[in-house]
Amino acid sequence: MKKIILALDVLNIKKAERLINETSIFIDIYKVGPILFLRSGKEIIKILKKNKKKIFLDLKFYDIPNTVKYAVESAKKLGIFSLTVHSIGGLEMLKAAVSVKNGPKIWAVTVLTSQIVSQEEIVKRARLAKLCGVDGVISSPQEIILIKKECGKNFNIITPGIRNIKTNDDQKRTATPEFAIKYGASFIIIGRPIIKAKNPYKITKDIYNKIKTSCRKNVI
Ligand code: C5P
Repeated sequence: MKKIILALDVLNIKKAERLINETSIFIDIYKVGPILFLRSGKEIIKILKKNKKKIFLDLKFYDIPNTVKYAVESAKKLGIFSLTVHSIGGLEMLKAAVSVKNGPKIWAVTVLTSQIVSQEEIVKRARLAKLCGVDGVISSPQEIILIKKECGKNFNIITPGIRNIKTNDDQKRTATPEFAIKYGASFIIIGRPIIKAKNPYKITKDIYNKIKTSCRKNVI
């Protein structure tokens, strides 16, 4: 199963298209966040659909329940496969997001991987998100074991903050791709290590091969 989600955090659509072509055999789901969506939202959705890829819209909705519910409805109309909401939106907002029938999968961000907070706070948010019926949470690989302990081993955790080596960028709660998959991440989200690489094909292939052996049967 293809476990890498590529974050298309690039400034232009041509670069995004190149990345999709280069990584296509290893990746089924591509993440579109505010950087690309605000510049070329309609185009990137069209390109991903043309390539038969799933679209993960990462706009981290955090608003009043009515706004979030209709934002999810709008995403459904666009054919979005999954989207993110922020768990700090609370119980009513999370329930509004999951109330859309046959809508995109709803993945709740616990705490941004660029922040350092107590594990207690992270687990509290994961529990709330599960209670509201989300399809999974987005959290750091460092919390997989703890969240699975609290929310059950079949609860889906998708992990950004993937780094092979220690970097000085904004990500703080990081781990390697093998670690994340070994401990049960359903998917790993990777951006800069691939999109800024000299050879995105090669690095994606390397990661794909490395995690193949650590894969557990933990399917969404
Ligand atoms: O470049 P990098 O590998 O850090 O990209 C991680 C991606 O995951 C970014 O698009 C970022 O917006 C997203 N993300 C995150 N932490 C979260 C949720 C999403 O880094 N908690």
